[in-house]
Amino acid sequence: MKAQHRPTLRDLLAGPWREWKTIVQTPGLLAVEARLAAAYLLRFPALFIFLDRRALHRLEFDDESFMFGETPYHVAGAIVRRMQLGPSDVLYDLGCGRGKMVFASHLVSGCTTVGVELLPTYTTIARRIARRFGQKITILETDARKVDLSLATAIYLNAWTFSPDLIDSLYARIDALREDVWWTSVGMRWFHPRLQPVDEQTWWFSWGRATVCFYRVAPHSPTTPSPSPLERDGRLAGNPLRKVERIEQPL
Ligand SMILES: C[S@@+](CC[C@H](N)C(=O)[O-])C[C@H]1O[C@@H](n2cnc3c(N)ncnc32)[C@H](O)[C@@H]1O
Repeated sequence: MKAQHRPTLRDLLAGPWREWKTIVQTPGLLAVEARLAAAYLLRFPALFIFLDRRALHRLEFDDESFMFGETPYHVAGAIVRRMQLGPSDVLYDLGCGRGKMVFASHLVSGCTTVGVELLPTYTTIARRIARRFGQKITILETDARKVDLSLATAIYLNAWTFSPDLIDSLYARIDALREDVWWTSVGMRWFHPRLQPVDEQTWWFSWGRATVCFYRVAPHSPTTPSPSPLERDGRLAGNPLRKVERIEQPL
């Protein structure tokens, strides 16, 4: 594991500066930010998020997967530009929270975005804002492990909080993805015969510095071994092969 980075004064000042510059310079983003802020000030969602998490925990979902940490707008913009997404692309954010990545990606690149989130408090907030964008932004209240990804041209996973079980289940889905789909993950390297590494870049997120790993899905080749039943079931515990590597922990 890499050493943790402590932010310098320059980092502490540059983050908010870039964030506000992106908000002001990206048409539509200021209105999104104002609505997200209003939802927080007027509705006090922290209590409801706590209740959502308790309810899901009772349904045997891992609580650690519901830890929060958002992608800043300026980082979201840099990520979609790195993937060169455009209006014909469809980006899925698996675990979209309030949807900051979903809104910024659409507004920066024109791509269609789909946010997938289990906590109803977040989906309620995000859906109110998404309504204004018609078919270009959809928020699905469902489990990222089960969502249909057949239309996706890019998949984004802010995966540093995801539990090992959730990671295993998502890993098991890679084999069925279409060729050339982007698989872009925060804080986590993935090792899969179909994932071709393209790039790694680090940015400051709300919890600290994190590495974003960009992959593209390669075609199935005769030499690509198909996943074992163990992998298909997502049960990787005890499997000696390395599937993922956590790069950073939150500060
Ligand atoms: C670290 S936050 C990322 C938020 C957003 N992607 C961003 O980058 O701004 C992870 C989110 O994943 C959600 N989540 C966890 N497990 C999930 C699952 N199985 N299906 C859908 N969402 C899930 C959590 O509720 C949380 O809101």
